[in-house]
Amino acid sequence: MSTQYSVAGSVAIIRLDNPPVNGLGLSTRQGILRDLTRALDAPEVESIVLTGNGKFFSAGADISEFGTSKSSTEPSLRTVIEALEDSTKPVVAALEGTCFGGGLELALGAHYRVAAKSAKVGLPEVKLGLVPGAGGTQRLPRVLKVRTAADMITGGSPRTAGALAAEPGQRLFDRVVDSDTVIAAMQFADETVPSGKRPRIRDLEVAGSEDLGALRAQLTKRSRGFAAPLVALDLVEKARSVSFAEGLDAEHTAFLQLVGGDQSAALRHAFFAERTARKIPGLAADTAARPVQKVAVVGAGTMGGGIAMNFLNAGIPVTVLETAQEPLDRGLATIRRNYQAQVDKGKLTPEAMETRMGLLRPTVDYADLADCDLAIEAVFEDMDVKRAVFTNLDQVLKPGAILASNTSTLDVDTIAEFTSRPADVVGMHFFSPANVMTLLEIVRADKTADEVLATASDVGQRIGKVTVVSGVCDGFIGNRMLARYRRAANVLLEAGASPEQIDSAIEGFGYAMGPFRVGDLAGGDIGWAIRKRRYAENPDMPRDEISDRLCEMGRFGQKAGAGWYDYEPGRRNAIPSPVVAEVLEAYHREKGTRRQEFSPEEIVQRLVFALVDEGARILDEGIALRASDIDVVYLAGYGFPRHRGGPMFYADTVGLATVEDALRTFDAGIEPAPLLTRLAKEGKTFN
Ligand code: NAI
Repeated sequence: MSTQYSVAGSVAIIRLDNPPVNGLGLSTRQGILRDLTRALDAPEVESIVLTGNGKFFSAGADISEFGTSKSSTEPSLRTVIEALEDSTKPVVAALEGTCFGGGLELALGAHYRVAAKSAKVGLPEVKLGLVPGAGGTQRLPRVLKVRTAADMITGGSPRTAGALAAEPGQRLFDRVVDSDTVIAAMQFADETVPSGKRPRIRDLEVAGSEDLGALRAQLTKRSRGFAAPLVALDLVEKARSVSFAEGLDAEHTAFLQLVGGDQSAALRHAFFAERTARKIPGLAADTAARPVQKVAVVGAGTMGGGIAMNFLNAGIPVTVLETAQEPLDRGLATIRRNYQAQVDKGKLTPEAMETRMGLLRPTVDYADLADCDLAIEAVFEDMDVKRAVFTNLDQVLKPGAILASNTSTLDVDTIAEFTSRPADVVGMHFFSPANVMTLLEIVRADKTADEVLATASDVGQRIGKVTVVSGVCDGFIGNRMLARYRRAANVLLEAGASPEQIDSAIEGFGYAMGPFRVGDLAGGDIGWAIRKRRYAENPDMPRDEISDRLCEMGRFGQKAGAGWYDYEPGRRNAIPSPVVAEVLEAYHREKGTRRQEFSPEEIVQRLVFALVDEGARILDEGIALRASDIDVVYLAGYGFPRHRGGPMFYADTVGLATVEDALRTFDAGIEPAPLLTRLAKEGKTFN
């Protein structure tokens, strides 16, 4: 049973009851219709209240039904909504908690809506590459200002009922209450029965003639090939220009087209891949995470400060340890400044900021870490420094505490051996800025205990991270693949492409920024320092000549006002640089190379397939547990366009044989990853 039916006085109450989120799968849809018929047949019932079972109204369609026969089996959501509209007894929807997607569309089919102020309503379908498919694009603009409805439908973000009810001209809610929504809805139902009215949203005219041109321009600029938001906007405009029935048909056609397309498949993959990544296969069923109530962060630099903020934000006390008072004070001041910036933007109250700062204990004494359950090291990237820190942690931390390293390149197995308890050592690789970026690679070392792995992953989720387990290797999953991507970009440059050609091709694919614009943002000096050190250690290694020439000219990127591009003072607009063009010309003259022309398609393939090839090796070596985990790393940490589903999923949609062929042409003489070759031959996919 996915609904519950009861009668109180003359009001029938239909409660959606399909845990965890009252998804509107087939059995729930059948339940609503069955209960509705029962209410219409019962002589003592005069009105009907439709509600959820406590916290939720409904989070919408059951995504797992998409693409299966269940989703198209009658009664469809459209049929259920029409039955509510046509009900001969008034239907009042009582909205509490979440009311998303199909849930909101269902509520729009009721004659009246009573909502808790705190109820969240929204049409998030675009986030799955879709548009609402049960009338949402046609009904919502009839009860809100057109621009408000268009923002909600094209952006997918929820609003609270309280905020929407305060907007002039809204007809979405008939009553908004602080609490006891179902009782309020029952009262409302009783009051309306005598009027005999059963207003239907479909009969309303769309009010207002606001221009949606500015929104269209904004969406077009941001879309980068992602279709759903603009299709959604077309449908909102249709609500004004055609009849309700025609609008509904157009919506249905658009929905079917999108639901069968690659973009929505990619976004659904991304959604499920993130959930799957949390589950670690192979752990014993009774593996329990250890309790983590107090955290230590060693090193209060760029990463340590950001890492500490994650825990403070989640209400978990943090002791930060530094080598001396001066760097400690500096680290704390940076944390305070970051919070102050949030306060200035109105994103945090001054009280909340003080609560968070109050959870922070600075120290220069290891003895103060004795009672911490988890210590995360974020000191200089130097094995000797790591050794000193882990030796100290091993001496002071209580038994059962977890020792984690945020190292990005060093061997976690070696670090674990600095302690007498390697089973308690794990990598927790955050991304910069650590308080903003959601990805967290959990690095499983040779001896890491299952319980420790489970705890690191659990803690990561508590602080709101997207966690992915990686094995030990240079760069782990993300940075190891990134090195291939960057090298592919350099190969293109050396063969004759320009930075702006490469960037604009990959931005056309959906990345917010190409590799050279990213390079200018991050600054070229750090990479140059590393390269110089490596050249000194290894004089025969190939040079990154073009990058080196720019660095020698002081072209370190945005902060220097010049890098791969030129920048006007104080501005971030990348302007193609005649100086860089000349550097490239000179490079080709000296080498005697003829500059090749590359199509945007080939540029995209070279960069993305390099990721795929390295991803296949990482998968084959067992560094990543699943292809979908690699996709999650790239979506959450590296700006891979979400509507492409991640590099491995994208390769699957292109076809692995095509990918393999292309790699053989690009890198003549280098064998593609064996796993890729094997799957391509067998006609299989990664995911
Ligand atoms: P940083 O140089 O900004 O900060 C390091 C801090 O550690 C400094 O404040 C220093 O005073 C302190 N420190 C040095 N030795 C110490 C010791 N023995 N005991 C206590 N504190 C000590 O460096 P950053 O960028 O924060 O990097 C830290 C770690 O995080 C490195 O392992 C790095 O590879 C890793 N990482 C860095 C990322 C980045 O983008 N910066 C991203 C992911 C990981």
